[in-house]
Amino acid sequence: MSEVAPLRGNGYRDTWCGDVLPARVDSEVRVAGWVNRRRDHGGLIFIDLRDRTGIVQLVFHPDSSGAQLFELAHKLRAEDVLSASGPVVRRDPETVNAELPTGEVELKVTGAELLADSETPPFQIEGYAGDASEDVRMRYRYLDLRREQMREALILRHRVVAAMREFLDREGFIDVETPVLTRSTPEGARDFLVPSSQQHGSFYALPQSPQLFKQLLMVSGFERYYQVARCFRDEATRADRQAEFTQLDIEMSFVDGEDIIEVNERLLAHVFERAGGPKIELPMRRMCYDEAMGRFGTDRPDLRFGLELVDLGEALRETEFKVFRSVLEGGGSIRGINAGKREMPRSELDGLISRAQELGAKGLVWAFREGGGWRSPTAKFLSESELTDLNQRLGAEEGDLLLLVADQRQVTDTVLGQMRIDLAERFDLIDPEANELVWIVDWPLMEWNEGEQRWDSLHHPFTAPAGEFDPSKPGEARAVAYDVVWNGQELGGGSIRINRADVQEQVFAALGIDAETAQARFGFLLEALSYGAPPHGGIAYGVDRIVQRLSGAETIRDVIAFPKTASGFDLLTGAPAPVEEAQLRDLGVAIHKRKLAGH
Ligand code: AMO
Ligand code: AMP
Repeated sequence: MSEVAPLRGNGYRDTWCGDVLPARVDSEVRVAGWVNRRRDHGGLIFIDLRDRTGIVQLVFHPDSSGAQLFELAHKLRAEDVLSASGPVVRRDPETVNAELPTGEVELKVTGAELLADSETPPFQIEGYAGDASEDVRMRYRYLDLRREQMREALILRHRVVAAMREFLDREGFIDVETPVLTRSTPEGARDFLVPSSQQHGSFYALPQSPQLFKQLLMVSGFERYYQVARCFRDEATRADRQAEFTQLDIEMSFVDGEDIIEVNERLLAHVFERAGGPKIELPMRRMCYDEAMGRFGTDRPDLRFGLELVDLGEALRETEFKVFRSVLEGGGSIRGINAGKREMPRSELDGLISRAQELGAKGLVWAFREGGGWRSPTAKFLSESELTDLNQRLGAEEGDLLLLVADQRQVTDTVLGQMRIDLAERFDLIDPEANELVWIVDWPLMEWNEGEQRWDSLHHPFTAPAGEFDPSKPGEARAVAYDVVWNGQELGGGSIRINRADVQEQVFAALGIDAETAQARFGFLLEALSYGAPPHGGIAYGVDRIVQRLSGAETIRDVIAFPKTASGFDLLTGAPAPVEEAQLRDLGVAIHKRKLAGH
């Protein structure tokens, strides 16, 4: 039986299409739904009728259905809406459809009513093979959502969120809504702004997260809060990023990092179980931030395969090779990957160099281990002992492909961290059955932003330093922070927060937020922290990402009912769109047209 409760029965229907099963043979049913497919067999017309629960085959026969109904059936087209009734009969053995739960029976139509007809859809709903472009699917999203795959994805999403609520409710968390029209909450992206009609020149910001409100709720004594919260970040959309997305947001009081990790591991295990995801072994694996960066060049390592990064600076300390020497003298690193025994024509090796450059490297050294040395254009610049040492550090065996990048550590890591993933995909090194969930812990509090010449938070400015904070050495401070990473994707992250106004002020100062700015932007938080703020901390998950991963979808757009395109357009409603001049006047907003090149 379908998972949906039985129907009460009315003039439209008394049975779900998916519930027309062999047990119903000889009984009369009435079903309603959309014409999935029509097959005209001359004397007989077969209609596959679809509702949310499944598909049932209707048969129209000129005699048993009558001339009028047969005429109606003749005119039916895909996606017309129909109500039909009649006895359920067993199909002939040779016409049984083993692919459908209802495939052993059919409904012999003795009554039917066309409830609505449909234009020819711009793409096929039934048997859809992904040939429609995503733009067309988004423009006609209500049709796209009729497809089984999309319906399944949204049902899974519902199940995931229901499981989250179920678990958190049981653990005493309280669901509190926080404002959408608010002040900026910095999470590292650009704000969406909403102009005020009451106060021209003033703007609300849409929240990048409920971060500050959930901290205020801890000051209020709620102890355990959660919310399935919409967040807004005006940043470039990608496969796993939307400007508008959903977090499962959590905060707790009188806890340390271990408490938060403990509850969250059980939460994840519960959600995965309810959603039919992989079984999570508890306790989950943990890895320090430094180790993740060292071995994988990223804070969200995919642990399903090797190809780890290796530090090669030591082997090249005395090198004569100009490229390497100047990087080492400039305080940079030389790091490499052993990509294993591969054969690659020159053109593809050149492709690797281009890819490295696209990712930000100045170049890439490739080499194949050959005997004690290398087959590589760079081999001639390196001494025999350097080559031996490099081979040893990289664990290189005969024929192994070695890739080296020399640059500032941040660049070597970004480039090799990504190439590692490229190579794994290209050489099929990822076991599709493998699942690696890991907590990344023990983060630095801040990192140096070379471009802006200032310290940036790795998480956000409200993250608590581990132990005493020494404002003179911000780069040495560690954070009580944790991210949870699944197969190379960050699902969620959080931290213990600062609960003392003086520490928060010191951290703002270290981040280059002067006292006046801090007061203007976050005065309410600093004030709240002065009224007895308990030690507190929490986490937020990307709900879209969790569902995407659990459903196996390629992008989070496929698990969002009404998503936006990569450039942030809603093709269905046509947003964003120009507004009336009068509306702008009310808001005190004037538009400066940006001159576009070539226009
Ligand atoms: P953070 O910024 O890491 O933390 O966000 C938490 C999680 O939200 C998801 N996420 C996104 N999903 C889709 N599209 C986006 N543009 C997007 N940006 C983020 C990710 C991420 O792990 N307030 C803190 C949490 C805390 O400290 O409690 C926060 O927002 O899965
Ligand atoms: P060049 O001296 O620029 O011709 O570079 C010599 C070789 O070193 C070429 O194969 C480059 O791709 C490579 N190379 C240049 N810069 C780097 C770098 N920063 N890291 C790794 N390889 C590099």
